[in-house]
Amino acid sequence: MFIVLEGIDGSGKTTQAARLGEWLSGLLGRDMVLVTKEPGGWAGGDAIRRLALDGKLSSAWGKFFLFMTDRCEHVSSVIMPALGKGMCVICDRYTPSTLAYQVLSNPSIGSGTADYMTGICEAIGLPLPDCVCLLDIGADTARKRLDARGRLDAFDALGRDYFERVRAAYDVLMKRSHGGWIKADASGDESTVFEELKRGLERMFGTRPGGFAA
Ligand code: TYD
Repeated sequence: MFIVLEGIDGSGKTTQAARLGEWLSGLLGRDMVLVTKEPGGWAGGDAIRRLALDGKLSSAWGKFFLFMTDRCEHVSSVIMPALGKGMCVICDRYTPSTLAYQVLSNPSIGSGTADYMTGICEAIGLPLPDCVCLLDIGADTARKRLDARGRLDAFDALGRDYFERVRAAYDVLMKRSHGGWIKADASGDESTVFEELKRGLERMFGTRPGGFAA
């Protein structure tokens, strides 16, 4: 079982990934659940993470390929081995992040190129998530949360409108998908959002632990 969490910065993915990890560990056993993240969730990932997030890359395509490189290594050294052991993998960000942040939110990338880049992501054979949990939140609410955590760097550098475009891009990706997405209102408190995600996952996979095993 491969579950991905998506949403704009400040949507609370990391908190919800940890909560889902706890819940599913209770159902399946701790050694059967892996919580991981992108960028940087593999042994050599720190260097890529630093490069991706330190603001020195100015080209959208440079970032696109860097995030894809990180993902390919993460998939081959962490995600696939875990799925191969029958584990449930919960990943904080995955391909939808790259398509939303680097491609669909970029007004200078036309729809033909966007479709082509989406095709590349599909063609290289990355495993498809069984479920994408989209934590939906407005840019202003997300900004307030990041402000409270003292983490406004990306927001201030990229601007509010960019994050609203990323949010809209996620909706486009969800509409284009052939199911498998759960969209939760992420503006509520941590437990309310968790319960909404849990209900959505139970609707999709059933309430028995076997539903969440690989
Ligand atoms: P991170 O500190 O992990 O933030 P968050 O907790 O919000 O996930 O930084 C990840 C940042 O990298 C975030 O701003 C989104 C961005 N990103 C992309 O732009 N494209 C991608 O493909 C990925 C994986 C992340």
